[in-house]
Amino acid sequence: MTSFEPSVEDLVLVAGATGGVGQLVVGKLLEKGFKVRVLTRNAAKAKEMFNNRVEIAVGDIRQPNTLPAATQNVTYIICSTGTTAFPSSRWDFDEPPNLIEWATIFLNPKSSSAKAKNSPADIDAKGVSNLVTAAPLNLKRFVFVSSCGILRKDKFPFSILNGFGVLDAKQKGEEAIISSGLPYTIIRPGRLIDGPYTSYDLNTLLKAKTGGQSGVVLGTGDTLSGDASRIDVAAACVESIVNPTTSGKIFEIVNQGTRPPVIEWERLFSQIGSGD
Ligand SMILES: NC(=O)c1ccc[n+]([C@@H]2O[C@H](COP(=O)([O-])OP(=O)(O)OC[C@H]3O[C@@H](n4cnc5c(N)ncnc54)[C@H](OP(=O)(O)O)[C@@H]3O)[C@@H](O)[C@H]2O)c1
Repeated sequence: MTSFEPSVEDLVLVAGATGGVGQLVVGKLLEKGFKVRVLTRNAAKAKEMFNNRVEIAVGDIRQPNTLPAATQNVTYIICSTGTTAFPSSRWDFDEPPNLIEWATIFLNPKSSSAKAKNSPADIDAKGVSNLVTAAPLNLKRFVFVSSCGILRKDKFPFSILNGFGVLDAKQKGEEAIISSGLPYTIIRPGRLIDGPYTSYDLNTLLKAKTGGQSGVVLGTGDTLSGDASRIDVAAACVESIVNPTTSGKIFEIVNQGTRPPVIEWERLFSQIGSGD
């Protein structure tokens, strides 16, 4: 078991804090005694959600000028921002598409994102790159929630998932982090399950749950597939910043097998390779 104690100057910025994984990340950080600042587009929502237990910085990762105030004096950044893989209202279309426009979008994915202001290209690629640029040079770690399938975009089911470019965009986000020179950990989860239910995918509609029964499996090199509990993904983000062995590492995470009484993160992390 790790005996990490946050130091008084440690301050963690969580981008995507109001999302499913992000809320759980904030909860775990507070449990471990970290000071937390959340980056949000909606201060009122964050205030209600976190009950005055966190600092709130209003910002949007698409707007670089909103980020320096949010990243000032932070020692860690955990980024779990995202939008839907397929067009939805979260893509922030200039005008809500009508029926014919929706049909065109689905028949011609490449043309659609031009009309959207919050597509995967806007957030997962450009937005993440903006956040990297705004990070303090002495940052101790940038943890990024990416996705399984980055290196298997031409293989089913990832070829379908990448129909509107979400995996291309996540890969560009990863590349911006790696080439920045900042210490990083990149986490590639499988299909997210377990609440809080904030996104619009099939698992969310079905409210799929592990029931806390499945073990945690980590892998290197984009080979795993399957479901990943948001609870365990959030734990992996927080455990990564307290475990130095995860610095400079990229790993996948899914839930498989029988859950042991305690998830031994240090042992799991010791088994991951350097991977790409
Ligand atoms: N769904 C899956 O099966 C799956 C699989 C693998 C990886 N992932 C990735 O896992 C991560 C977490 O997923 P989730 O379901 O927990 O996410 P989520 O609930 O959809 O949350 C997304 C977060 O991103 C924030 N956000 C969106 N656009 C933003 C912008 N322009 N500026 C600042 N913040 C912005 C949202 O804030 P607001 O409250 O302002 O909207 C929200 O807090 C995402 O990166 C997702 O891509 C998902």
